[in-house]
Formats: sequence, structure tokens, C-alpha cells
Amino acid sequence: MSEHKVFVTRQLPPATLERLSAHCDLEVWEDFMPPPYEVILEKVSQLSGLVCLLTDRIDARLMDAGPSLKVISNMAVGFDNIDVAAASARGIPVGNTPDVLTETTADFAFALLMAVARRIPEAKQYIHEGKWRTWHPTVLSGQDIYGATLGIVGFGRIGRALSRRASGFNMRVLVDTLEPEAEVSEAGGEKVRLDELLRESDYVSLHVPLTEDTKHLISKDELAAMKPTAVLVNTARGGVVDPAALYEALRDGVILAAGLDVTEPEPIAPDDPLLTLDNCLVMPHIASASVATRRKMAEMAVDNVIAGLRGEPLPTCVNPEVR
Ligand code: DGY
Repeated sequence: MSEHKVFVTRQLPPATLERLSAHCDLEVWEDFMPPPYEVILEKVSQLSGLVCLLTDRIDARLMDAGPSLKVISNMAVGFDNIDVAAASARGIPVGNTPDVLTETTADFAFALLMAVARRIPEAKQYIHEGKWRTWHPTVLSGQDIYGATLGIVGFGRIGRALSRRASGFNMRVLVDTLEPEAEVSEAGGEKVRLDELLRESDYVSLHVPLTEDTKHLISKDELAAMKPTAVLVNTARGGVVDPAALYEALRDGVILAAGLDVTEPEPIAPDDPLLTLDNCLVMPHIASASVATRRKMAEMAVDNVIAGLRGEPLPTCVNPEVR
């Protein structure tokens, strides 16, 4: 038996788990649903490594309950489920899974944009409800994508990948970012302030992490600043958008439509008012869900935990100041 015990909070591909099991005494949570917080809290007292998902809240209390915890590895690029400051204060490195999901997530953001703009889910419903009786000049008319203006909020890996897709559609790309203007122009975009981006864009796509600064970044005033024909796309984190304000804006025609891969809360309640709207397409947080990408994310999460057990720098670490 290894000196290191590792808990993985969900089933990962068997080959990936087998690789991990060569380095530790491995326990995997078998249920479809995440382990309750109390379960992780109890297990952590014995753990050297924890592989978790964005559905697991990993806070200071939990870290304090794990005196031998050497590494936390999140199978996601986002890490707002983890108190990273608390981990750093306790000398625990935290791993994430960037890069491998960039293109897959950008594909999905663009797919959402197109589906909502061209009203594909509504058109499917129209047929299923037996409403297709003839070709009609105005039925289910949507918005053009080619040549339109795309506003990208946040210009990290995924925001940039989205701008590459936009160039194939001859779109004008406006970017709200802290990155230098030269980097944005090099990527074919124009750096603008958020208020200008909201005013000018036909499509607004969100690519910022969820932090105290970005919580409800898009709320009533920001929605009111957008064009009445604008479409909002969110593949970042649900908390970046105020859901009550979005519901009212969509209901009252303040903006045209929204495509959301992420919601606040997750999962969205079946009776959430957003789900009553034809102009809101809600997906169950699947932007990175291609078979190949999810496999690579699992591999990276395992690479990070193995490095942490060995006391080596994690290949992808969100708090590299911890040594
Ligand atoms: C992430 O990795 O943060 C996504 O939200 C899920 O792939």
C-alpha cells in the first residue's frame, strides 16, 4: 500500500485512474452525483491528494481538516469552487486543466451564438408542435452572423479562440480586457471599454472567470445598454450574469435572446423563469464536453496530482508561488 491516499470525487476514464493508482492508494467516488461536502471533509483527514470537480466546494475548513494534504487538483480550467488564497496560505498547490479545453469550449460558444441567432431550438420545437404548414417569408427569421459585431468580454485563451472563429465570419470584434491594446489588435480585435462594447455589439460573449469583481458583471444596466437585437452568450460562469435581470431583459425585449451554458445556480431549477422563455437557450454546462477533451482534462488532473504527491511543481498550477 502506498504512503499516499488520494480521493477522486467522480469516476474518470478507467485508464487514467489506473495510471493514478500506480502512485497512491486510490479511492474513487462511484456515484453519479457529487460527494456531499461532509463526506470530503471526513475523508480529507487521511488524504495526501484530492482530485475534485467544479461541483465540489473546497474551502479553508476542509483544508484544515487535511493536515497531510499535499495537492488539490481540479478537473476544470475554472477554479472558483476552490479557496485558492486559503490553499496558498497553507502551502497547498492547486492544479487546473487549461488549454486542452480551449478550442472545444470556443466551438460551443460559437455554436450557442449561431443556434440562438438563427433560432434553431425554436425551429425544432415549431416542427415538433406540428406548426410547419408552409414556407413563409417571415417565420422564424433570425439575426445575421456574417459581418456582425461580436463583443468579447475577457480575452484569455477561450476569448481569443472565439475571436479566431469570428474572423471566418468577417465579424468586427470588440474586446473588453485588461490585456494590452497591441495584443488585442494583433489578434484582429479592437480594445474598447465594456460600455462601448455593450452598446455596439450584436453578440456579446462572456469569457471572464467568476471573482468578486465579475459577480453579476452583466446586470440590469449592462443589459439596458445592449442593442434590442443583441444576443448574450455565457459559457464562463453563471454568476457573471444576474439571472433575475436577464430574465426581465429577455421577457421585455430589452435584448433579443441569450444562449447560456452556465447558470446561477447550477443546475438551474426546472421551474426557473428563464426556462419559460423561447428566446433563452439553456444548456447544462457542457461547453468542454467532447469525448477527447474530457479525457485530456482527466489526464491533466491526474498529472497534477501525481506531481503534487512527488513534491514536484504541478504542470498546470494556479498558485505557482506555493513551492
Ligand atoms: C471549466 O473547465 O472551468 C469548465 O467550466 C468545465 O469544463
